[in-house]
Amino acid sequence: MADGLSAEVAAEAGVAPDDGAVPATGWYAGDIERVVVSEARLRERIEELAARVAADHPGQKLLLVGVLKGAFVFMADFARALGRHLQVEVEFMAISSYGQAVTSSGVVRILKDLDRDIAGQSVIVVEDIVDSGLTLSWLLRYLESRNAASVRVVALLRKPKAVTVDVPVHYVGFDIPNEFVVGYGLDYAERYREVPYVGVLKPAVYTRP
Ligand code: PRP
Repeated sequence: MADGLSAEVAAEAGVAPDDGAVPATGWYAGDIERVVVSEARLRERIEELAARVAADHPGQKLLLVGVLKGAFVFMADFARALGRHLQVEVEFMAISSYGQAVTSSGVVRILKDLDRDIAGQSVIVVEDIVDSGLTLSWLLRYLESRNAASVRVVALLRKPKAVTVDVPVHYVGFDIPNEFVVGYGLDYAERYREVPYVGVLKPAVYTRP
């Protein structure tokens, strides 16, 4: 990393609560098997993450780079939480793995690039989820090639595989089981992004012919 930070930076994740009952409200309620991270737990943990990031960057102005589309909800809440501690600016990139497969293919393409020069800036990548780590690994190389002063990563969710790969995630919201989750920005076939919590999708939804 440009600032010497590396994978040995231990990211301490919150513990996802036990299986939660699905609120009855919302058109999607019948498609969700269980809640993995509730709205209340999301709010609480995002405040904690923002306080931690602020403490590690005293007096700095941070450029948050959100990875669309999944990170848009987390980005909005995280930017406001962090903004109570220090000055932030926001940028977005859209990167897509090919296809609509449930597992990531690892092949990425830029759908939307940064709108500005980030040379010399302290960058925080804001991701909704790290699974194989391939997207993040590619993105970190890309941001380094744009000469950011430092690049750190905050990811709301981390799947087990991501822990085993050599890609630094400096701040983690929750370690979650290896199940297909939707909500709080995460989709299945572009649906469920508006669900206000993180939940496991019923397998029947994606095995429908
Ligand atoms: C998701 C997510 C991450 C990536 C993580 O994006 O937002 O960017 O996959 O997977 P990885 O660690 O295995 O690479 P996706 O390609 O589904 O696009 P989206 O955010 O637009 O839904």
